[in-house]
Amino acid sequence: MAKTKSVYVCQECGAEAAKWIGRCPACGAWNSYVEQVIHKEPASKQAGYISHESSPSKPVRIESVEMTHEERIDTKSDEFNRVLGGGLVPGSLVLIGGEPGIGKSTLALQVALSMADKRILYVSGEESVKQLKLRSDRLDKPSSDCFVVSETSLEQIFVHIRNIEPEVVIIDSIQTISTEWAESSPGSITQVRECAAALLRFAKESTIPVLLIGHITKEGTIAGPKVLEHIVDTVLQFEGDQHYMYRILRANKNRFGSTSELGIFEMQHNGLREVSNPSELLLSQHHEGLSGVAIAGAIEGIRPFLIEVQALVSTAAYGTPQRSATGFDVRRMNMLLAVLEKRAGFRLAQKDVFLNIAGGLKVNDPAIDLALMAAVLSSNLDIAIEKGICMAGEVGLSGEIRPVTRLEQRIMEAEKLGFHQILIPDFHPKRGERRLTNIQITSVRKVEDAFRVLF
Ligand code: TYD
Ligand code: MG
Repeated sequence: MAKTKSVYVCQECGAEAAKWIGRCPACGAWNSYVEQVIHKEPASKQAGYISHESSPSKPVRIESVEMTHEERIDTKSDEFNRVLGGGLVPGSLVLIGGEPGIGKSTLALQVALSMADKRILYVSGEESVKQLKLRSDRLDKPSSDCFVVSETSLEQIFVHIRNIEPEVVIIDSIQTISTEWAESSPGSITQVRECAAALLRFAKESTIPVLLIGHITKEGTIAGPKVLEHIVDTVLQFEGDQHYMYRILRANKNRFGSTSELGIFEMQHNGLREVSNPSELLLSQHHEGLSGVAIAGAIEGIRPFLIEVQALVSTAAYGTPQRSATGFDVRRMNMLLAVLEKRAGFRLAQKDVFLNIAGGLKVNDPAIDLALMAAVLSSNLDIAIEKGICMAGEVGLSGEIRPVTRLEQRIMEAEKLGFHQILIPDFHPKRGERRLTNIQITSVRKVEDAFRVLF
């Protein structure tokens, strides 16, 4: 007879307590404790997956560990491979997180259909097989050895895996799956943790990679949050604005690769298109002669691209001026506006400032600071920045232009796209490096220098 025990678990952070508490001492959430019954069973019998390795582990010298060449599974998507660090590692557990409707299921199914040489099991706890078929018809990918099933019981999923013997398993989503071993509702922290742990044991033992899809709560954390991030090998975040077409896939954690890689996709009527040259896409709309637009040479991950920063400055209609930014940190924008006010003497306190990064991208690269200030000023003065000029530079609190990483790459990207001038922090090309001939490089030390060039 299994022993049962009940604990109270915080649904926000997973902290446990013996009695109900109104406010979680760990994460500060109110009213988040829920009673949960836990079956106390020997570890080997927990949550669905029964370990075949009964032999006890045996320590070996690290030198004598045999290295089989780590082969990665090609997902047939360059962008997806790139973010994974060169493909899917056998036996890895990968979590794809993102807000509802961003395209996680589309991405997963598209990858499943593209890997035509692999047998894939796609488990959906949210959609029926008919809905999955409808989606796959839309994606218009070559038919493949992809099996779909609508299932929410973890135990049943393992039965299907045994029968079908897939080479890759996809679970959409972890929040809909539940195991008999935890007596709480699907999506609760105990269920999510137990199911993910069982899938991890399965992946490690069978060397079959498992892709998990996870929802993200409004606060931007993966529901059933930190516990899940600790369990899995790789956490990929799929983001973008629902109203724009661009989607960015980035690695927040990757045991098998770098976290600075980035995949860019465009959502189209027939699925996600890979964007291998982001600049062309972000600059496709030409705003010749319009004020309030500046082009920045940005780097996201390790790829340089040029991006359009748009600003609108208008007289504040009400007492308190409005400040809003899309795709950029508002606090940083306020700081830059303060610098602009102080250094360049522009009275922005009575102005509304709206800022937008074209394409709905979120950019974290500080090198777009200079373009942001230029766009604000351009809108304020109603003078357009000359076409063919772009800029890259971080702005410090005293208005100095600070150096940015990989300047050479940014310049080359601008040159490649036909820009004739780029404003950058002090730059000294290393000897022996390729000489840039088609683009005029202008070093600026202070924001005032840049404005003198531009206006
Ligand atoms: P979906 O993958 O269901 O999102 P998630 O699993 O993250 O909740 O996709 C959501 C949106 O994508 C949906 O609004 C419809 C749109 N979409 C396209 O624009 N083109 C397509 O080919 C597909 C399949 C979906
Ligand atoms: Mg979905």
